[in-house]
Amino acid sequence: MTPYDILKSPLWLAEIASPAKSFAANPILGNRRLNERGLHRARVEIAARMAEARRKRLAHRVDAADRAAYDRDGFLVKENFLAPEAFKRLRAEVFGRTFPAREMRQGRTVTRMVPLPASLLASMPATREVVESPFLRAAMHYMSSRAGEPTFFIQTVLAEAQGRKPDPQTDLHADTFHSTVKCWLFLDDVGPDDGPFRFVPGSHRLTEARLKWEYEQSLHALETGGHTALGSFRVKEAELSALGFGDPVAVTVPANTLVIADTFAFHGRTPSPKPTVRVEINGNLRRNPFLPWTGLDPLALPGIRFNQMTLNMAWADFRERRLGKRNVWRDVGETAADGPVRV
Ligand SMILES: [Fe+2]
Repeated sequence: MTPYDILKSPLWLAEIASPAKSFAANPILGNRRLNERGLHRARVEIAARMAEARRKRLAHRVDAADRAAYDRDGFLVKENFLAPEAFKRLRAEVFGRTFPAREMRQGRTVTRMVPLPASLLASMPATREVVESPFLRAAMHYMSSRAGEPTFFIQTVLAEAQGRKPDPQTDLHADTFHSTVKCWLFLDDVGPDDGPFRFVPGSHRLTEARLKWEYEQSLHALETGGHTALGSFRVKEAELSALGFGDPVAVTVPANTLVIADTFAFHGRTPSPKPTVRVEINGNLRRNPFLPWTGLDPLALPGIRFNQMTLNMAWADFRERRLGKRNVWRDVGETAADGPVRV
């Protein structure tokens, strides 16, 4: 142990009861002996039990049909989410102008992100209507089992069909070890060749088989490396039936469809056979799965609300400058949401 390790060990210990997921970044979470004794399995099981208790308290805000769809599938699909006029206004706000943007490359796919701070939302009323939608927020709260402030941004997925390494997000995976939610309001149609989201229905539920699989993965996560070592486990399609699941479904949707998904379930992007550009309003909500209460989110405080992503990026840039830790989200200056790749 180095002096640095000794200094960090209380933090690593505290992270056991936090959303921290990386086996590589935390030697306690990544400790093979502790995981043989069930550390990871216990985190998964306790988090699921607590999520269920919190979710019951949030259920009254979501209608019965949506609750049933989530309980069955782990995701909700709402076509024609906005009224036609509101959707037209949303597209007019997003397209035909430039925004300060970030880009991240993962193999042959680039994700562009345009943060939506309060100052920008003030001039984008249709976009603001989406991110403040009571329906969307209630569904995100219920599915993630935490009330709180989601983070929203404009996201563009730019997939090249060939070259470079494959996109790691095309592997079926769980984002983390507990229920957490993401949403996408698609501004364009997403057909079968446009790299649609795919999802294994029902795989958001923690079954005995899934718990056993989580345990087995935890024993080898560090050696497996890649995103698995970072705590986002990959599942092979051939493993799905033994886990009690069917095949993944491709979520092909017309423009103006909202998809909300619990990304503890197995999901991924479908590889694109052709270059594609897909623009969406994206949101996510991931909070500490080990807290008993549902609300009390510091991100909802005035000054922070809507500005989380801008603040995160400023912090990540500072870490890069001062500590040499590269920010994967590269500042690409002003660009159109559907403009060409810069990274
Ligand atoms: Fe994911």
